[in-house]
Amino acid sequence: MLSAEELHILSFYRASELAGSMLLGKLALHTNHDHLRVPLTEQCLEEAKHAWMLTQTIDKLGAVPVKITQTYQSELGKIYGFPESTVDILCLTRVLEVVALETYQKHVAMRRVTPAVKETLEAIIEDEIGHIDWIQAELEKHATGVEGQKVTQAIAASEAASRTVSEKFYENPLIRRYLEQAT
Ligand SMILES: [Fe+2]
Ligand SMILES: [Fe+2]
Repeated sequence: MLSAEELHILSFYRASELAGSMLLGKLALHTNHDHLRVPLTEQCLEEAKHAWMLTQTIDKLGAVPVKITQTYQSELGKIYGFPESTVDILCLTRVLEVVALETYQKHVAMRRVTPAVKETLEAIIEDEIGHIDWIQAELEKHATGVEGQKVTQAIAASEAASRTVSEKFYENPLIRRYLEQAT
């Protein structure tokens, strides 16, 4: 049986994965960069798979995902804006991957995590590590190019935006209560 707090945090992860998949799908559809079309499409699929795995886990534990309107993606988008350039796309995707990975790693390390949840998050963590690798490599190519300084600034801006969103997440009373219960 899931507590209200645990259901909320899992629903938030699910919604964020789904929003991530939809964002990547849009980027995969609209990008003018031929070399980004394949990895963006693949990642769209994997984030949708993560949303599904979390949905199945919630279902297996006898609950229904709650509606979440503020995801990492929506909140980050409000600060950083919709990515227009390739560098913006990569920066935004990278910080979203990093924050997801860090949050999940922190979650599975807690003592009182529901075993089914731990299993799901561990499987997702493996995929997220792969996602960060290709984006990081792609971004490094740009950072060492002619527009290196602009890229460095975009990375810093995306990281600052991500920190703000992450702080807000941990300020949410439901999330705080869950973390107190599970630690
Ligand atoms: Fe994911
Ligand atoms: Fe990912």
